[in-house]
Amino acid sequence: MNIIVIGSGGREHAIIKKLAQSEAVDTIYALPGNGGMTEAECVDVGAKDIPAIVEFAKTHDIGFAVVAPDDPLVLGCVDALEEIGIPCFGPSAAAAQIEGSKVFSKNLMKKYGIPTAAYEVFESADDAREYIKTCDLPIVIKADGLALGKGVLICMTREEAEDGLREIMEDKVFGASGNRVVIEEFLEGPEVSVLSFTDGKVVVPMVSSMDHKRIGDNDTGLNTGGMGTVAPNPYYTADVAAECMETIFLPTINAMNAEGRTFKGCLYFGLMITKNGPKVIEYNCRFGDPETQVVLPLLETDLFEIMQAVAAGELEKVDVKFKDAHACCVILASNGYPKKYATGFPMTLPEQPKHNAEIYIAGAKVKDGVLVTGGGRVLGVTAVADTLETAVKYAYEAAADVKFEGAYMRHDIGQRALQCK
Ligand code: AMP
Ligand code: GLY
Repeated sequence: MNIIVIGSGGREHAIIKKLAQSEAVDTIYALPGNGGMTEAECVDVGAKDIPAIVEFAKTHDIGFAVVAPDDPLVLGCVDALEEIGIPCFGPSAAAAQIEGSKVFSKNLMKKYGIPTAAYEVFESADDAREYIKTCDLPIVIKADGLALGKGVLICMTREEAEDGLREIMEDKVFGASGNRVVIEEFLEGPEVSVLSFTDGKVVVPMVSSMDHKRIGDNDTGLNTGGMGTVAPNPYYTADVAAECMETIFLPTINAMNAEGRTFKGCLYFGLMITKNGPKVIEYNCRFGDPETQVVLPLLETDLFEIMQAVAAGELEKVDVKFKDAHACCVILASNGYPKKYATGFPMTLPEQPKHNAEIYIAGAKVKDGVLVTGGGRVLGVTAVADTLETAVKYAYEAAADVKFEGAYMRHDIGQRALQCK
């Protein structure tokens, strides 16, 4: 079967590499993909250009589609493809609101008793300002809509909160995403990412993972899309997992069904393990990036079989298995990211990475026959080993063989996990 994968980052490369292992998959088209995705045919169609995606699918004998990024999901890419009879892995636009609107997801959690930070919603900057005068510090302000992962402000002082509020609600730095804000209680505890497969009937959590969002070592500096990951996450014990299934995962699936927004695809639970139990920090309606780059290498079951079962509402028939091993992904970024950075530098990649590591290309293009850098996060190097310590060591040794001008990486990916007692 020929399939399309919508998206262009390291997450999509990890999905494509895994799908390419399936015997049932013939040609994989990446829309738009990137110059480093040699397992797929990259097609110059933007991930948000839904009419062009539909047209491509109609004319290329496509039997299945994977819609990976949040934007096309929220814009209804799955609905449009299903309308022309193409089964998809990914939620409808109605279900993608669980990520597309923080007001929607917070109200959902409140209505169905799913543990999350206490919050208020504001549509007027003046009302929000009045509220900020009275609340405890620190305080968390979140733009309602999608904001490229930058719409969350942790404010230590009232001045910071007022400045942030002005930027989001009045200067509209995130556009219409800032028409409403959620102001919520600051929670503390280790963070865990749990991606899950769900067809709306059953929910199958994947191996847990830990992201490293800040740009600098020891979690300093600006927030990024993610500078590295490890899996499994040692803070996510069997007891915590059982509690999450009972108080968060199943109630969320049931809540979405009750709202007439059945969720099919990958539902991502961003959790904080607080002293009062696990709480939801955020939902994403898609695979995480770079969580996918450590989770999928540990998946033993055929990903295409799982995705087809999810689309057909038959996930319960598949025995989803993960390796009993550890994975570490180190991201190499362009110097300057997440602020301004230059691109177009030639990249040298090892033909056979050390320790059987995988290289997932995120931001690259081919120029005059040469692979050159083309984004902030350029690639991820993932190693798998029997222990976390070895996986970390192997990932860094393999990453050392990747060269491009201005390559930047954190040097402490996995250390927070190794410190878990
Ligand atoms: P989000 O974009 O919702 O994942 O938020 C980005 C990051 O902000 C999260 O990974 C957390 O580290 C932090 N964060 C979000 N909400 C809270 C909260 N209520 N309390 C503490 N930290 C938070
Ligand atoms: N790594 C966080 C995310 O994908 O949202």
